[in-house]
Amino acid sequence: MNDSNTALRDKILFELYQQEGNYLSGEALATQFAVSRNAVNKAVTKLKSLGYTISAVTNKGYALDPACDKLSAAGIESKLAARRPGFRAGPFIVCDLTDSTNSEAKRLAMKGAPDGTVVLAEAQADGRGRMARNFFSPTGSGLYYSLIVKPRFDISKSVLVTAMAAVATARAIASVCGTETEIKWVNDLYYGGKKVVGILTEAISDFESGTIETVIIGIGINVREPAGGFPDDIKSKAGSLPLDCNRNELAAELTYNLLTMLDTIEERTFLEEYNERSMVLGRPVKIMQTGRRARAVGLTDDAGLIVQYGDGTRDILSTGEISITVE
Ligand code: BTN
Repeated sequence: MNDSNTALRDKILFELYQQEGNYLSGEALATQFAVSRNAVNKAVTKLKSLGYTISAVTNKGYALDPACDKLSAAGIESKLAARRPGFRAGPFIVCDLTDSTNSEAKRLAMKGAPDGTVVLAEAQADGRGRMARNFFSPTGSGLYYSLIVKPRFDISKSVLVTAMAAVATARAIASVCGTETEIKWVNDLYYGGKKVVGILTEAISDFESGTIETVIIGIGINVREPAGGFPDDIKSKAGSLPLDCNRNELAAELTYNLLTMLDTIEERTFLEEYNERSMVLGRPVKIMQTGRRARAVGLTDDAGLIVQYGDGTRDILSTGEISITVE
């Protein structure tokens, strides 16, 4: 791949997004980026072949459909600039296909990728969930997203980070897609009784010091029904959002929410909203690891789930290794 061609394509794409569907002449683009009209034309032709919905009209120039849903760094950056002017985030690294955005983010973090780097993919070949489960990640219908965080906060309570990410995601879905989701402790979002989001938070620790150097917050959102539907083994449990929305816009808002909430995570102000969105509190649950039944009665300051058994005794579930079903 030629880097200068890719850079020109990215710059043209960003400008077209900024126009919000209005035409921009080839001449203006050529002048702005100090290249020939032919170079602009070739770049646009390539962008169209990659799946961007761009129309070209003689004497008017080029226009990108603002609803174009193909994931791109330029698309996310322009939506971020429109929704949250002046807010700086990224870099955004978008792959067509990767094994897992969490795995790719880990590899990049080990090579020195900075705090705030976001990795996204149109599809994952080996999307991972908690407890070695697989996360179904077909092309074009989901948002597969991983944020690299160099923690400036006490990371000993990793469940708190996952809980914060759940609220950040629910808020982004509410504001961009107009849908209110419920949170199932600790890392899933539900709509209409079906799981529409899974969150996998992973840490990279320094072997020498034993400290956690990097946290990867991985979020998978089933934005719309996959083209071939969900596979048989998950179709009774997995669902998608009811109203279609733009994935670049969703990624932009999610990034804004995560980064701003991480800054104040230790104040724990998001826990109130976590409680309000909980589909677990007050409900009978079954703890999968022990098979015991209990009632979820509250949340600790560190987002641990307080459960009460039939005999009145209580437990705090506070590790990512425990999962519950709501009965
Ligand atoms: C779960 O359901 O247990 C968590 C699922 C997390 C899926 C997301 S998709 C983006 C990121 N990359 C992965 O491989 N997993 C997370």
